[in-house]
Amino acid sequence: MARVQVLMTLRGLVSVVILLWTATPMEGGDVHVTCVFSEDCGLPCSFLPGSEEVIHWMKPEDKDLTVHSYYYSTDQLKEQSQHFRGRTALSNDQIPKGNASLLLRGITLQDQGRYKCYTSTIKGNMESFINIAVEAPVRLVNIQLSDDIITCSSTGIYPEPKLTWSTDPPSDLSFDPETIQNSTSIRVDDQGLYNITSTKQFSRNQTNICTVTSGTIERTATLKQQDPVQGSPSSEVSIPCSISQSDLLNFELTWTFNQIVTILTSTSTNGTAQMYVVDKWKEQVQNLSDSGSLQLHKLTMVHQGTYSCELSTARDTHLILTYLQITPDKLSDVSDGLSPGSITGIIIAAVIIAAVICYLLRGFLAKYKSNMAI
Ligand SMILES: *[C@@H]1O[C@H](CO)[C@@H](O)[C@H](O)[C@H]1NC(C)=O
Ligand SMILES: *[C@@H]1O[C@H](CO)[C@@H](O)[C@H](O)[C@H]1NC(C)=O
Ligand SMILES: *[C@@H]1O[C@H](CO)[C@@H](O)[C@H](O)[C@H]1NC(C)=O
Ligand SMILES: *[C@@H]1O[C@H](CO)[C@@H](O)[C@H](O)[C@H]1NC(C)=O
Ligand SMILES: *[C@@H]1O[C@H](CO)[C@@H](O)[C@H](O)[C@H]1NC(C)=O
Ligand SMILES: *[C@@H]1O[C@H](CO)[C@@H](O)[C@H](O)[C@H]1NC(C)=O
Repeated sequence: MARVQVLMTLRGLVSVVILLWTATPMEGGDVHVTCVFSEDCGLPCSFLPGSEEVIHWMKPEDKDLTVHSYYYSTDQLKEQSQHFRGRTALSNDQIPKGNASLLLRGITLQDQGRYKCYTSTIKGNMESFINIAVEAPVRLVNIQLSDDIITCSSTGIYPEPKLTWSTDPPSDLSFDPETIQNSTSIRVDDQGLYNITSTKQFSRNQTNICTVTSGTIERTATLKQQDPVQGSPSSEVSIPCSISQSDLLNFELTWTFNQIVTILTSTSTNGTAQMYVVDKWKEQVQNLSDSGSLQLHKLTMVHQGTYSCELSTARDTHLILTYLQITPDKLSDVSDGLSPGSITGIIIAAVIIAAVICYLLRGFLAKYKSNMAI
């Protein structure tokens, strides 16, 4: 009787031990890791340190694909799947400390899924699972205006993005889901990343807002048109770039003429700005104020047009359009300002006057000479 009991207790103990053995890795379930597309990513895995380490990283859902193996104190990559070739690394100095974390370089969308980390030492073996999600966050949202149609777009995104339009102040008219659905298109490239583009009628007296969302990331672009600014060839003009400023330490500011020609760019890193003015505009650009306003002078009629100020921060893009109207100066009305044509006219007139003076002077000199001779 007693023998049977002892045997049963032993059996129970063994099964408890076996249960514990297999239960250990299940503690806490899968580890979830979010990796960024094209960047490097660390897959954590730890084990009880012991000698004669064997490490197998596998992808069970893909027929136990071999991701990386290590035994006899070295990497064993003969069985490694082609997809992971040259992209994996263990830290050799970390292995004796019980750290089998794997570095996976140049993350692709195919890297998503569940990975198994199997380790074994003379002290026993362990398994743990890591779930990888891949994101290609929305980085930049572009906004443009052409013929009263606003186009908003963003590229290289994963997971599938959503795009919404709104206005500030809000209006019911701008929210017309049907037109918006109709005008939004999504494309997938061969790497599995999404491009999204949407168009909308421009709301003239409101700020037009485009929001692109993917996963937990949201980025916006805004566009508005402000009141026209008047200028003249003899005056200095300041075109404001009125953007509500919260954290303007890191940004990129671009002033553009007629939405095509770049006038200047200014990049600010940690509050230190660097400005670059395009050669053709050096004469006209007087300064860029701290608030981003563009100060111009020496303007001619060719400088009449739309000036856009685009300010991009890590979160948002803001585009402000301002029409600059140039009225010729009253004094130079007759000669039509300072256009190249009128300058030529002035030069010709000056040459003629000089010639006449020369001619008169000559006659006078000749007369004077003949008088002297007498
Ligand atoms: C394991 O090693 C990696 C480097 O390969 C390191 O980033 C990580 O912090 C280590 N983990 C632990 C728990 O020490
Ligand atoms: C898109 O909108 C136009 C009119 O605005 C309509 O004729 C067309 O059927 C719509 N297309 C789809 C796919 O809804
Ligand atoms: C997505 O946008 C990028 C950048 O504009 C472009 O190079 C690429 O061809 C686009 N891909 C698709 C599938 O439209
Ligand atoms: C925008 O301007 C138009 C005409 O100038 C006006 O009728 C309309 O009410 C304005 N809308 C808003 C939201 O201010
Ligand atoms: C900007 O400041 C942050 C923290 O203040 C610093 O980590 C970073 O290196 C700085 N960048 C540059 C380009 O100076
Ligand atoms: C140009 O702007 C800076 C501020 O951005 C200001 O300190 C400076 O005095 C201005 N220079 C001129 C010539 O107006």
